[in-house]
Amino acid sequence: MLQEKMLKNAMKNNYIVPAFNFANFEILRGIIDASIELKSPIILQVSESAMNYFTDDLLSGIIQGIRKIKHPISIHLDHGKSFEVVKRAIKLGFDSVMIDGSILSYSDNVKLTKKVVKYAHSRGIFVEGELGVLSVADDDALKSNNARFTNPEQAKEFVALTGVDSLAVSIGTNHGVNKYIGEAKIHYDILRKIEKEIPNIPIVLHGASLVEPKYVETINSYGGKIEKAIGNLNLLKNAYKTHISKINMDTDFRLAVTASTRKYLSVHPEKYNPRDYGKDNINSVIECAKFRITKICHSQNKVK
Ligand code: G3H
Ligand code: 13P
Ligand code: ZN
Repeated sequence: MLQEKMLKNAMKNNYIVPAFNFANFEILRGIIDASIELKSPIILQVSESAMNYFTDDLLSGIIQGIRKIKHPISIHLDHGKSFEVVKRAIKLGFDSVMIDGSILSYSDNVKLTKKVVKYAHSRGIFVEGELGVLSVADDDALKSNNARFTNPEQAKEFVALTGVDSLAVSIGTNHGVNKYIGEAKIHYDILRKIEKEIPNIPIVLHGASLVEPKYVETINSYGGKIEKAIGNLNLLKNAYKTHISKINMDTDFRLAVTASTRKYLSVHPEKYNPRDYGKDNINSVIECAKFRITKICHSQNKVK
């Protein structure tokens, strides 16, 4: 299993495998180009809504195309919420799947994850599970932090009961542009306890986008309105020294292409060919991916 090799190697050698979502072609191109140039392994993630956006037939063509590239690229289902979407991803040729039962009751999460592991493993597919609730920043789960963070002892039991290959944990980060209400903090103390309970299981950190002010400022100065953007820029600098072996970023690439598009079209009002601002998008994604690969993941030059 490609992802198993990637994550175990990252855990052993103190780096993180970047797992970047692609929401459109320009993001896909930029991520692949950056990872090849920097010789970094890469996980390309597709959510269920991205699958629907691309359509299954076109996505399966994209996957076949990716397979021709001589570079370790793993294709991963992000936040699969049902057994059906897992089956759909495996049929399309994904290398690995995430089953996200985190909002279910603990026992239903165990039940669903176990069923997915049985199905996926018999087909040689790697499975990521999730325990603990990540959420958007203004919802109720975030207001009662203790209820949503991963319980380290329960993590040990969850891994033993389900047989997952990696575990996504909740230690403070959230999805989207506004990651924290109140104190911006990643709970490395909880992470250390989780590592002790499941020392051989690679840990996955979702909601890891940095939300760099430069993107938000560009978007807002060219007519956008993104409010309360708070990211992880200074909180992830040492994450590569932990058992976090896969880091998920999606929002940053959305911000990068939106900033690029808004600025490009404003500066070049005469342009109307989408490939003109598309090229600017790709360059912006390349820069965004390279920064994360070198400054957060330290995964450059890990491909021999
Ligand atoms: O964690 C969620 C990912 O950013 C996917 O979002 O469902 O809008 O593609 P999406
Ligand atoms: P961000 O919203 O921080 O990019 O998180 C993405 C993610 O966790 C995808 O699974
Ligand atoms: Zn996520």
